[in-house]
Amino acid sequence: QSVDPFDLVIFGGTGDLALRKLLPALFHRFLDGQIPGSSRIVGIARETLDDAGYRAQLREALIGICDARQLDVFLQQVFYRPLDARKDEGWDDFAALIGSEPEHVRVFYLSTSPELFVDICTRLGHYKLNEGASRVVLEKPIGRDLASANQINDAVGKVFSESQTFRIDHYLGKETVQNLLVLRFGNALFEPLWNAGHIDHVQITVAETLGVGHRGSYYDRAGALRDMVQNHMLQLLCMVAMEPPSSLAPDAVRDEKLKVLHSLKPIDESNVSQLTVRGQYRAGVADGASVPGYPEELGNNKSNTETFVALKAEIANWRWAGVPFYLRTGKRLPSRVSEIAVTFKPVPHSIFGGDAGTLAQNRLVLRLQPDEGVKLWLTIKHPGPGGLRLRHVPLDMSFAEAFGVQQPDAYERLLLDVVRGNPTLFMRRDEVEAAWHWAGPILAAWADSGEPPRPYTAGSWGPSAAVALIERDGRTWNEDGE
Ligand code: BG6
Repeated sequence: QSVDPFDLVIFGGTGDLALRKLLPALFHRFLDGQIPGSSRIVGIARETLDDAGYRAQLREALIGICDARQLDVFLQQVFYRPLDARKDEGWDDFAALIGSEPEHVRVFYLSTSPELFVDICTRLGHYKLNEGASRVVLEKPIGRDLASANQINDAVGKVFSESQTFRIDHYLGKETVQNLLVLRFGNALFEPLWNAGHIDHVQITVAETLGVGHRGSYYDRAGALRDMVQNHMLQLLCMVAMEPPSSLAPDAVRDEKLKVLHSLKPIDESNVSQLTVRGQYRAGVADGASVPGYPEELGNNKSNTETFVALKAEIANWRWAGVPFYLRTGKRLPSRVSEIAVTFKPVPHSIFGGDAGTLAQNRLVLRLQPDEGVKLWLTIKHPGPGGLRLRHVPLDMSFAEAFGVQQPDAYERLLLDVVRGNPTLFMRRDEVEAAWHWAGPILAAWADSGEPPRPYTAGSWGPSAAVALIERDGRTWNEDGE
């Protein structure tokens, strides 16, 4: 698919996301010939830097990806402008730069704290940079609750129409997440079983070994529920649970996801202590090294912010009534693994003797990262004449082995989707609102309870209460890929 020449402006151009994700993604697309020659990438931040200084920073960040010659060609398309969203200085010059290519698609990527979204958009509107083929990309989390999300969406909406607004959730750009759509709706096998009649429960795990590191000032105001659950994990849940959309048209998919969000059973002060567990890491060992606890990383500040959440969600509709969706995410867990595991009900009767419930249940595991792949766990006969011995083994498909290619990073796909104007994999305003509508009462109930998060040792799977949360229902958390 071809790409029209574009200008992509990154507000927060010297930040962590820009250097670690956005610029590498653009460089990869450049190496694949998808950044037309006249396109420009403009980094914006408050620091006083010029193009050469910014290019030098990027050179350091990108040098590992490819040989230096190609990197230098790419960097010729990269520019920098120092701007403060709250001060006039520099904006005339910036507007003139962008205005000099009126035919270009314009993408304004707001990779800044959400408090600056409104100021930036107001300025872009003032200079009429919102006109024509202009788009704005909003990084999550959008606000910190429903009210602040509405405020941001209202203010951005005064400058950019909904069709120009791309609310990014990079989990939707992950190959395996898109593959979930294909697996569900490109095969006849699963859909007839994809309901409460046949599915016992679903687990969604997003575990990280990293701590919050230098992102503490952002993270401490957010916490795991706002940082991961309200967006990434709910989006994954929606992809598993939604009804088949009639096509991949943006609104067809988003309408179905929205219905799932609206059907989530509320969690509030009446049930929050049974259905959720929040934790915070303490010193321990991660990735083989001793690491400090969360309070130490904040400079020995006491904090009530959770770095771990486990919860049991339920969807009140015909397809899913009574099927628990167990979600868990955290920092400083024993391994970096993200996966969705769908466990089917036991066979109704065992012809092999014993209770049917003792036969291992079928399970479909989608591994999002690392080692992207799909495993379908089946019961088969152990080979040999020694009677019928049953084994639980996976049909195992690793993307790397099957296709011999490295999976592109989610941002590569999503950035080009913005340039092409395809919002299918982006969150519509009503989805963000519905997600806050569900997450808000959980946050409020936690705050009202006054209970601090439960401590867990870095390198463990979170507080023991998280194990109890699922074991109470006679189930266990899925071990790595099984
Ligand atoms: C981001 C969160 O949205 O996703 C981070 O703000 C988290 O806290 C990251 O580390 C995880 O993304 P990925 O793609 O590395 O799983």
